[in-house]
Amino acid sequence: MSIQIDLSSDVAVVTGGGSGIGEGIAHLLAEAGARVAVADLSAEAAKSVAEQITAKGGTAIGVQVDIADEASVRQGLDAVREQLGPVSVLVNNAAAWAIKKFADTSAEDARRVVDVTLLGTINMMRAALPDLVATQGRLVNVASDSARVGEHSMSVYAGAKAGVVAVTKSLAQEVGRKGVRANVVAPGTTVTPGSSGFIEQVGGADKLARAYPLGRLGAPADIAGAVLFLVSPLSTWVTGQVLSVSGGFTML
Ligand SMILES: NC(=O)c1ccc[n+]([C@@H]2O[C@H](COP(=O)([O-])OP(=O)(O)OC[C@H]3O[C@@H](n4cnc5c(N)ncnc54)[C@H](O)[C@@H]3O)[C@@H](O)[C@H]2O)c1
Repeated sequence: MSIQIDLSSDVAVVTGGGSGIGEGIAHLLAEAGARVAVADLSAEAAKSVAEQITAKGGTAIGVQVDIADEASVRQGLDAVREQLGPVSVLVNNAAAWAIKKFADTSAEDARRVVDVTLLGTINMMRAALPDLVATQGRLVNVASDSARVGEHSMSVYAGAKAGVVAVTKSLAQEVGRKGVRANVVAPGTTVTPGSSGFIEQVGGADKLARAYPLGRLGAPADIAGAVLFLVSPLSTWVTGQVLSVSGGFTML
C-alpha cells in the first residue's frame, strides 16, 4: 500500500519561484502533478525554473511579476489564468529584507521591506482570492520564525513577517466556510542564494548548524515538503496555523 499526493487538478502559483525555497516548492508541487506558474521578479529565473520542470515531464510556465506592484500582479495572474486556468494553490514566498541593526535602518530600507514582504503578499492574496474561493483553494504564506521571536539585525523584516502571519490567520477565519484554507510555513535558516550573505555574516553554515537540534541547516526541499502537506488532502482540517520548519531551532 502506498499514499500518493495528487495535485493534477490544481494550478499553483509560487512567488519567488525563480530561486531558493520558491524554486524547491515549484519543483515539488509540479512533481505532485500541479500545473505550476513560477512567478518571479526575474523573468529569466522564472523561465529557467519552468523549463527545468517541463524538462522533467511537469507542466510549468514562467511569469514575470513584481509582487509590490498591483498592476504587475494583476497582469501576471491574468497570464496564469489564460495559460493554465484559475489559481487553486497560492504560495506567497517572495520577500525582501535588509540585514541592518534597527538604528541603521533607513526609512527607504523599511519601506522596501514592507512593500515587498507584507504589501506584496497582500497584493497577491487580494488578486487571487476570487480564484481561491471559486476553486476551494489553499493559500500558504512563507513567513519566518522571526515573526514570532524577533531577529537581531532584521527588525523590519520580522515585523513585516509578523504582519503576514496575522493577515493569514485573519483571512483563514473569513474564508474557512467557503472551503479555503490558509496557513503559514516559518522556515529556519535554509541554504539558498538569498541567505548566503546572512550565513557568512554569522560565521558560516557549520557554526550556525550547531544551534539546531537536528544538527543542520535547512534545504529548500525541507520547506517544500511542509508546503506540500499544507496544500494536500492530508491537511484538510488544518487552517490558520504557523508551521515552523526549522530543524527544531524554534519550538513554539
Ligand atoms: N533562506 C532562509 O534562511 C529563510 C529563512 C526564513 C524565511 N525565509 C523566507 O523564505 C522565502 C524565500 O527566501 P529564499 O532564501 O529562498 O530567497 P532567494 O533570494 O533565494 O529567492 C527569493 C526570490 O524572490 C524573488 N523576488 C524578490 N522580490 C520579488 C518581488 N518583488 N516580486 C517577485 N519576486 C521577487 C527573487 O527574484 C528571488 O528569485 C522568503 O520569504 C524569505 O523571507 C528564508
